[in-house]
Amino acid sequence: MKKIVLSLTLVASLYADHFNMPKTTNTTYQNECGSCHMAFQPSFLNQGAWKKIMLNLNKHFEVDASLEQVDQQTILQYLMENANSRLKNPNNEISITKLPWFMHEHKRLQARATANPKIKTLSNCMACHTRADKNDYDEDNVRIPR
Ligand code: HEC
Ligand code: HEC
Repeated sequence: MKKIVLSLTLVASLYADHFNMPKTTNTTYQNECGSCHMAFQPSFLNQGAWKKIMLNLNKHFEVDASLEQVDQQTILQYLMENANSRLKNPNNEISITKLPWFMHEHKRLQARATANPKIKTLSNCMACHTRADKNDYDEDNVRIPR
């Protein structure tokens, strides 16, 4: 029964590969990985990519995001349990914004985002997806700042 429900959900959701997100419920993850940018939902990357990120926090996109070992371990485990195993990401690309599905979905917004100081970068999900931190990327809640 569980299997049937699961596959119906998959069929129902066109982009199920990427957008069937579990909630970000881990407090350590939210606190430590949500201070500089939003705590990106674990299902936006696969295990290999999250592992790469978590093992190189001292050189994290030009910043030092190192953690105490106990927090690093907690977060790594949380990400391994919730990563997206069906995401097409053969090179374990760590930028969500560089993944093919993302670029496809956002390509006409790239120039506009970088030119607008209210957005700055497409990594700033919350600038447009007003409820992204609630795991909600619904079209109805997208507002592109002018
Ligand atoms: C000290 C600030 C800081 C902290 C803390 C931090 N990050 Fe980042 N993170 C950044 C910056 C800066 C970028 C690059 C954003 C950009 O390209 O505009 C980034 C980018 C990312 C991206 C790629 C987003 C994209 O553009 O696709 C992921 C995934 C990510 N961080 C995960 C994490 C995780 C997991 C943690 C917690 C272990 C974390 N970050 C903690 C600063 C931080
Ligand atoms: C400049 C505004 C903007 C930014 C920044 C942005 N998006 Fe989007 N996003 C859109 C628009 C517009 C769409 C297409 C409309 C739609 O289907 O929601 C979209 C589509 C999506 C979809 C597909 C929704 C669906 O149901 O088809 C997802 C998932 C998504 N974005 C995630 C993200 C994530 C994650 C980030 C940050 C790493 C991000 N977006 C940054 C504007 C933006």
